[in-house]
Amino acid sequence: MADSDYSNKHVEFKVPEPTPEEAAELETMYQKMDETYLKPLWRQIGGLMPNTPEPAAVAHKWVWADLIKLARRSGELVPVGRGGERRALGFANPGLGGNTYISPTLWAAIQYLAPGENAPEHRHSQNAFRFVIEGEGVWTVVNGDAVPMKRGDLLLTPGWNFHGHHNIATEPMAWLDGLDIPFQHQMDTGFFEYGSEALTDESTPEFSRSEKLWAHPGLRPLAFPGQTSSSPIGRYSWAHTDAALNDQLALEDAGFPGVAGPGHAAIRYTNPTTGGDVMSTIRCEFHRLRPSAETEPTHEVGNRVFQVFEGTGTINVGEKSFEVAKGDVVNIPSWQKWSVQADTDGLDLFCFSDFPIFEKLDLARVFIPKGI
Ligand SMILES: [Fe+2]
Repeated sequence: MADSDYSNKHVEFKVPEPTPEEAAELETMYQKMDETYLKPLWRQIGGLMPNTPEPAAVAHKWVWADLIKLARRSGELVPVGRGGERRALGFANPGLGGNTYISPTLWAAIQYLAPGENAPEHRHSQNAFRFVIEGEGVWTVVNGDAVPMKRGDLLLTPGWNFHGHHNIATEPMAWLDGLDIPFQHQMDTGFFEYGSEALTDESTPEFSRSEKLWAHPGLRPLAFPGQTSSSPIGRYSWAHTDAALNDQLALEDAGFPGVAGPGHAAIRYTNPTTGGDVMSTIRCEFHRLRPSAETEPTHEVGNRVFQVFEGTGTINVGEKSFEVAKGDVVNIPSWQKWSVQADTDGLDLFCFSDFPIFEKLDLARVFIPKGI
């Protein structure tokens, strides 16, 4: 199927030109409809039911140097504590009217904690994760379990788990937060509750209790049978992610299957009780491209967000091309054709998306135009 098969537009609804008398009657009728909070479908069907998704969100790049500079400045000027809860700078998609939405469903933010600072405990129905681009010395306490945060780690705080943060390092720390706040905000499903002002566990273990129970590859504790809607693993450590990606590329070198595409290793973080996504609304992945490798241009229903972990390259979205380097964040709006190309030093990318929502609702679609 060619690309252009998806670009045909709605046929315009044509009616005979009204006489002046009819025009006046129509105007009166439309005014009456407005007053009665009614809208005629024939005046808006193209916008409500487009041939293919027409997202209001636009593809955009946030540059790490700008993000970290403003995060540091806010650390100097704004204390963190009860009420504001977190020193988080949320990404506001330029197409979404000033809301702090990176997509219609997802929130993303840079969170910044200075040495010795604590972020108080709370819980909410929104699912959350943290991805650590650099630094260490912060522990996220999830339901009384202290989870270390180190470079390359993915941490989960699924909905309705109490959580707070504390920083014992001598350096500030910044990381990427991802949540389903816009989805829950627009669906009116959000609940929030304050927890302990002081952190309920200020210990600094090398491994959280959740990892000791659940983060041994392919092994689960008999004491906890059954499925959970979110992963019980508090931290997916970089050592496991890095090894999995390296092994895929080594298998490719040896002539065996395993990579997502030529020179493209990729993993999905999973819930060990189901094999499915880590949380009900958010998918997390990591992609590693060899030097000069590129992915196939793809259209997908749903929204992706990439953050560069290492290396440089180009992320193409629709008609736009973004040159990216460490820490840069780029979003892919629904159904816009996207691809990634690594420069000569290769490219490591963390990625999260809202795809689990659309897969559950049977609304997911993927289209890879191959051309002729
Ligand atoms: Fe939170």
